[in-house]
Amino acid sequence: MLTGRAGAEPVPPEQLHVQFGADAASQVAVSWAAKAAVARPRLRFSGPDGYAAGEVQATERGYTDALTGETAYTYHARIDSLEPDTCYRYEVRHDGAPPAPGTFRTGPRGRTGRFRFTSFGDQAVPAPVGLGLGPSSPNAGYVVDAVESLEPLFHLANGDLCYANMSDEPVATWASYFRNISRSARYRPWMPALGNHENEAGNGPQGYLSYLTRFDLPANGSPQFAGNWYAFTVGSALIVSLNNDDVCLQDGGFSTYRRDHVPGYDARGIDPYISGYSHGRQRTWLERVLASARQSADIDWIIVCMHQVAMSSAHFNGADIGIRRTWLPLFDAYGVDLVLAGHEHHFERTFPVRGCLPGSELLTPAPRGSDRAEMDSRYGTVHLTIGGGGHPVTAPGRSRHGPDEGIVITAVGQGDPQHQRQSVVAAEPAPWLAYGGEPGGFGFAAFDVVPAEPGGTTSITVTYYGAAAGSASYRPRDSFVLRKPHRCAEQHGRELSRVAGQ
Ligand SMILES: [Fe+2]
Ligand SMILES: [Fe+2]
Repeated sequence: MLTGRAGAEPVPPEQLHVQFGADAASQVAVSWAAKAAVARPRLRFSGPDGYAAGEVQATERGYTDALTGETAYTYHARIDSLEPDTCYRYEVRHDGAPPAPGTFRTGPRGRTGRFRFTSFGDQAVPAPVGLGLGPSSPNAGYVVDAVESLEPLFHLANGDLCYANMSDEPVATWASYFRNISRSARYRPWMPALGNHENEAGNGPQGYLSYLTRFDLPANGSPQFAGNWYAFTVGSALIVSLNNDDVCLQDGGFSTYRRDHVPGYDARGIDPYISGYSHGRQRTWLERVLASARQSADIDWIIVCMHQVAMSSAHFNGADIGIRRTWLPLFDAYGVDLVLAGHEHHFERTFPVRGCLPGSELLTPAPRGSDRAEMDSRYGTVHLTIGGGGHPVTAPGRSRHGPDEGIVITAVGQGDPQHQRQSVVAAEPAPWLAYGGEPGGFGFAAFDVVPAEPGGTTSITVTYYGAAAGSASYRPRDSFVLRKPHRCAEQHGRELSRVAGQ
């Protein structure tokens, strides 16, 4: 039981945001926060005709930040019997405070409807919080309006949401983040992936306690890692959110500020280096989920949302060989179509990749195709880095060695909880690079999914929208199409050829 229940002063609901459950056609969770604990938190919702569909009680979840000792209060209400492709209205309610309204739309069922989603990573907050140690920029606010103007069914936030682990006021940083995105996220799910800057040393075993408390995400079968990774189905797509800190070598969660200021950092044995923390649990789960999706006649697209990248031409962090060792063989084996990441603060995209260049010790992915405008992901996985969400330090802004050169983190040096491990990097050829023409700048990508086209194909049209620093004008800068036969047509084709061969 959390302390600090509200007294006579009204404590309004704030920071409203929506999430899909494992089945986007029928399951939604609405989450919010309050400055103090409140009485009888609940959600009232109604269907398209305005009839009162129901009221559900919300669950209170809180955490006390290890750095400041502040307690944050969040509330989560789940609904799991909704109609597909339907708009609902809702009101978040507490005793003694005015209700806060929002809407959401459920996902289509199967191949019945087109839908759009958007994605970016590395957003930060629109204005400095506390001492301003964490990143902020006006674009971290502008990008929310740009996304909202496209009215996507949902949005994927590819990690490094608000960089609370760098801030002297992490709870206020999270509040700033959700207040900023709520003008979109209260109307459509913003589905996150964990980034290295969600690791707030001292807040839970992987430092993720703030993130995990504030989101209500689909279950993954491992209660001790609930929320760290998950998947959901929307239409004919499976969306998988991974936590790459588990497989990366890079020491990306280290925070000098938290090392120097979290009380008991040494005595409690706090260690922000968490590589390998799930001991293979996440990989086992991923393989099971991918295998199941590939056996399903209802799933055409497998889309992975994650933070750190498998390939990078930016001389910034670099790609992490841990991802190549652990994830890419599974992406190859089960035909993952699309990977959306961040971490590198710019935009680039690859050709479909599968396997490695012959003899490559760096496991350099091999391109399978050379058409930049239209790609067929049956031959390989297309990776997008969309890390220009708002962090003011954009990549590649340091030393860029050449237009076709990739950078890979191959190892890390000595380190301990007090001293960050330095990355050991190597250069590689980058024949996988399809488009890397966005040096610096801010942006996001939109994905228009057409589940069934004449002729039996399905497609995703990808458009990258970019904006200059300080500009709210996001314009299309790059576009391409993923197209392939949908599963029904593919199976029909196989049967025809079998009959023809008899
Ligand atoms: Fe970042
Ligand atoms: Fe990052």
